[in-house]
Amino acid sequence: MAADAVVVGGGLIGLASAWRAARAGCTVTLVDPAPGSGASNVAAGMLAPVTEVAYGEEAALRLNIASARRWPGFVDDLEAASQLEVDYHADGTLLVGFDADDMRVLDELTAFQVELGLEVQRLRSRGCREREPLLSPRVRGGLLAAEDHRVDPRRVVAALSRALSIAGVEVVTDRAAAVEQARGRVTGVRLADGRTLSAPRVVLAAGSWSAGIEGLPPAVVPAVRPVKGQVLVLRGGADEPALTASLRGLVQGRSIYLVPRSDGRVVVGASQEERGFDTTVTAGATRELLDDAVRLVPGVDELELVEAIAGLRPATPDNRPLLGPTELDGLVLATGHHRSGVLLTPLTADSVAAWLTDTDPDPVVAAADPCRGSLHGPAATRGPDREHVGRTRETVQ
Ligand code: GLY
Repeated sequence: MAADAVVVGGGLIGLASAWRAARAGCTVTLVDPAPGSGASNVAAGMLAPVTEVAYGEEAALRLNIASARRWPGFVDDLEAASQLEVDYHADGTLLVGFDADDMRVLDELTAFQVELGLEVQRLRSRGCREREPLLSPRVRGGLLAAEDHRVDPRRVVAALSRALSIAGVEVVTDRAAAVEQARGRVTGVRLADGRTLSAPRVVLAAGSWSAGIEGLPPAVVPAVRPVKGQVLVLRGGADEPALTASLRGLVQGRSIYLVPRSDGRVVVGASQEERGFDTTVTAGATRELLDDAVRLVPGVDELELVEAIAGLRPATPDNRPLLGPTELDGLVLATGHHRSGVLLTPLTADSVAAWLTDTDPDPVVAAADPCRGSLHGPAATRGPDREHVGRTRETVQ
């Protein structure tokens, strides 16, 4: 029997979209060769619209804030549906500066955040250490963003997987090779093994791989490219946490974040690299991340290094996601989330459920319309900025 929709991609975005659509009454099939094994497995889980705000990207900020507000309700629903906890904490994020130049950058960032009406509180070095006692006394000062929260994306994937099964969503562990169409509208998805899944709607949520699916007219192929992020996972004792909440820092111009989990692990990230689909973990990125983490929190030196991994963020020319119906009837895009995939999961999933049930999503998602003009100007064709080629770790972009 044909489903109402096939969701291509089993990362957080695809899983959550399938779950919300099923709860809205759709029969849904999800396709992914290894659900939850891509960027969602690497992401630190910062829900950080305020500390990750970027100059000139106010439209993205509005999307991020709208989705951040949905996170508490999303967690309540998901934990109730799955009976699994997702390690969500609404405990703010501290962003600190290591030297005088880093503090000047933070001053400018604070001014920008205040101008945008975002809630931030400046702290001196001592105030930062009162909040995070293991912070180095060399840290000059920082700012507290009370509205920037955190979650464990791997636990969210586990909870969504169970919720999908309870909701009756079929998960097909194969690769989607092509979107099939007839007379200008979608008819389903052809799998790598040659089978076809018939459906009048297809949701393309395959992250960095979204542009590689065959069968799409050139005008609707999503303008996504992979941006590599290398991340370390450290582990200490759950009873002696290295950090109380998310910590971000600027260390001599490089940005870093450390996100604690309830079980004593700490995720440290992340590089930003334009290297295509390469996910090699390099000695250089690992060394830099560890050096900068130890400068901020010297006790990090004593933690066990349990993972060094790399994921691929799906970036777009204007750093906004691609969400919504396209010129190909029946094809809905839910991709291009770049650095905000975890944060944008609830808004994206609710919007996909709305499109699949012919209702109106939150009007804020109009800024992510896949047909918007900013995708087709000079920025769309020039490729990555020169400064983004190679390895970088900017906070303030
Ligand atoms: N949002 C975290 C990252 O992209 O590294």
